[in-house]
Amino acid sequence: MRDQIFGQENDLVDFTFDAQVADVFDDMVRRSVPGYQAMIEMIGLSVKTYGQDNTNYYDLGASTGATSVALSVNNPYTNNRIIAVDNSPSMVKKCQQNLALSENNVDVICADINAINFENASIIVLNLTLQFISPKERQTLINKIYQGLNKGGALIVSEKIHFSDDNKQQLMTNLHVDFKRANGYSELEIAAKRQSIDNVLITDDKKTHFQRFEKAGFSISTCHFQCLNFASFLAVK
Ligand SMILES: C[S@@+](CC[C@H](N)C(=O)[O-])C[C@H]1O[C@@H](n2cnc3c(N)ncnc32)[C@H](O)[C@@H]1O
Repeated sequence: MRDQIFGQENDLVDFTFDAQVADVFDDMVRRSVPGYQAMIEMIGLSVKTYGQDNTNYYDLGASTGATSVALSVNNPYTNNRIIAVDNSPSMVKKCQQNLALSENNVDVICADINAINFENASIIVLNLTLQFISPKERQTLINKIYQGLNKGGALIVSEKIHFSDDNKQQLMTNLHVDFKRANGYSELEIAAKRQSIDNVLITDDKKTHFQRFEKAGFSISTCHFQCLNFASFLAVK
């Protein structure tokens, strides 16, 4: 279904992942996040390298399940459990429908990812989710993820990022707006969404992400993909 949520002049409230958003999420994310499809494809690619038999794969902030589908269809290992977590009941319902035919053992759980105990994990993914977690809770979450990963396991984090250099920040912001225009969003929609999401989606810069991974104990971390102001990081235990 096409995203027209910000197409009318309504009173602006903070953005939430409610039923209205869940209905149009797949269209919204593809038209709003440059490189989204490539991010998902690279999550699929990582399964071969970082997956292991008899382990858990976690998809945190699963939304409609695109990441879990990529983990599932590309998985060459046996006896894996995919645990998809989201705290929006509407997203969980969509995710369950989308994963119903998966051949892997998939559990879709409605819960706060901060309350999950990670265990026996070979892959944990935060695809566009950490940015919605309170900044003061982010290090604790990454620490817990590190503890729950097996040796050689990987954390993949995709995020909108900001830049400490003002000129670069302005350039990337302008290009991102152009990307949304090119995907059919009007000036009204772009401005209204920005106002609605500004207090809710809190970006970090790359340096903050790398410092957080290092503090948690990850021995390797790298930015393996970037498209404008969206980046994917791979951190290996
Ligand atoms: C931008 S979407 C993620 C997109 C998805 N990972 C994908 O690859 O298509 C962010 C999701 O995180 C969920 N979320 C935000 N905070 C959360 C929390 N504390 N616990 C669980 N889910 C959360 C939202 O409900 C939303 O579905």
